[in-house]
Amino acid sequence: MKTHMRILVTGGAGFIGVHTVRRLVAEDVTVLVVDDRRHACGEALPPNVEVEAADLNSPATTEAVARFKPDAILHLAAQGGVSRSVRDPAGDAMVNVLGTVALLKASADAGCLRFVFASSGGAIYGRAAHLPTPERTAPKPLSPYGAAKLAAEGYLGMFALTFGLRALALRYSNVYGPFQDGTGEAGVVAITCERLLSGRPPEIRGDGHQTRDFVFVADVAEANLRALTSSVTGAINIGTGIATSVRTVVSELAAAADYSGPIEIVEGPPGEVRDTALDTRRARKLLGWVPSTPLRDGLRQTFTSFRERGRPATAHATSTPAGAAATPGRGPRAGSE
Ligand SMILES: NC(=O)c1ccc[n+]([C@@H]2O[C@H](COP(=O)([O-])OP(=O)(O)OC[C@H]3O[C@@H](n4cnc5c(N)ncnc54)[C@H](O)[C@@H]3O)[C@@H](O)[C@H]2O)c1
Repeated sequence: MKTHMRILVTGGAGFIGVHTVRRLVAEDVTVLVVDDRRHACGEALPPNVEVEAADLNSPATTEAVARFKPDAILHLAAQGGVSRSVRDPAGDAMVNVLGTVALLKASADAGCLRFVFASSGGAIYGRAAHLPTPERTAPKPLSPYGAAKLAAEGYLGMFALTFGLRALALRYSNVYGPFQDGTGEAGVVAITCERLLSGRPPEIRGDGHQTRDFVFVADVAEANLRALTSSVTGAINIGTGIATSVRTVVSELAAAADYSGPIEIVEGPPGEVRDTALDTRRARKLLGWVPSTPLRDGLRQTFTSFRERGRPATAHATSTPAGAAATPGRGPRAGSE
């Protein structure tokens, strides 16, 4: 990356954000994080990173963009829970649609033309006919979260056409790795690590033969860096293209923990998509990106990190958003899906 670049990262205190910000700082990039910390992962950011503790929809965020004058924006901040979006679609859209629109406007007003957005391959395509699913597949989201990501992508396209933004949506598959929220309703890797380390049997929701495309967070951070310095626009899938069953992932983690006890099988969520995997040939062609972490290595690294952290990964996840009163009953949030 070019040194002296200035990159603004929203959601930089979250799971993918912390990994990406650390990589950016290692490349000598000047980073401003905008994050209200409502779902911060609790890991420290490098000391030379400035943090604006603000909600996406607040004037403080717009002012931070104008003041910092970034060369590029990486927009990771989001309401990340699919089930939460079903319970509160308007609340989800407030963050994931309106927050994104406000940030796009601030970016255009500040003359920052490079905008990279964290979209979701898992949530946008719905029940795709083709696996691995290519970007040209017509999106058919099944949740408000997926619909909001799709709507935000629509705004990216509009800001590109009308205001000259070079906007790119990265459609991540199921990202896993150290510092992920293991207390939520998503993220089978983090949840299983938490259960194994707290002496509870691992749990499989559904028959366990449903498959997902698990991509390691360090590989996603690398994709983010490549995206920020490229001028590619449109949408690119970020995943492995490999469909792995939930049962396989849970067994691998159990082996990493030397656990040979029972695995609990519970009913899966209704309407769950059976299989997902993303076609990542566009990422290879346009960003020169390929995931480099084999699943077994990534799972072992993740389990080791959870163990060494020595505390629930999201004991901090109930923190109150900057400038907001504590919400009674909010509890640990669902992890990003
Ligand atoms: N983790 C995955 O598997 C996955 C998959 C597909 C897409 N994504 C997307 O990638 C992005 C990052 O995901 P993550 O897993 O790191 O999530 P995360 O919840 O760990 O991080 C999101 C961060 O955004 C902040 N935030 C939330 N709402 C905010 C608001 N209104 N104003 C300011 N800050 C706010 C939170 O405090 C948190 O630090 C999200 O956009 C998510 O939808 C994640």
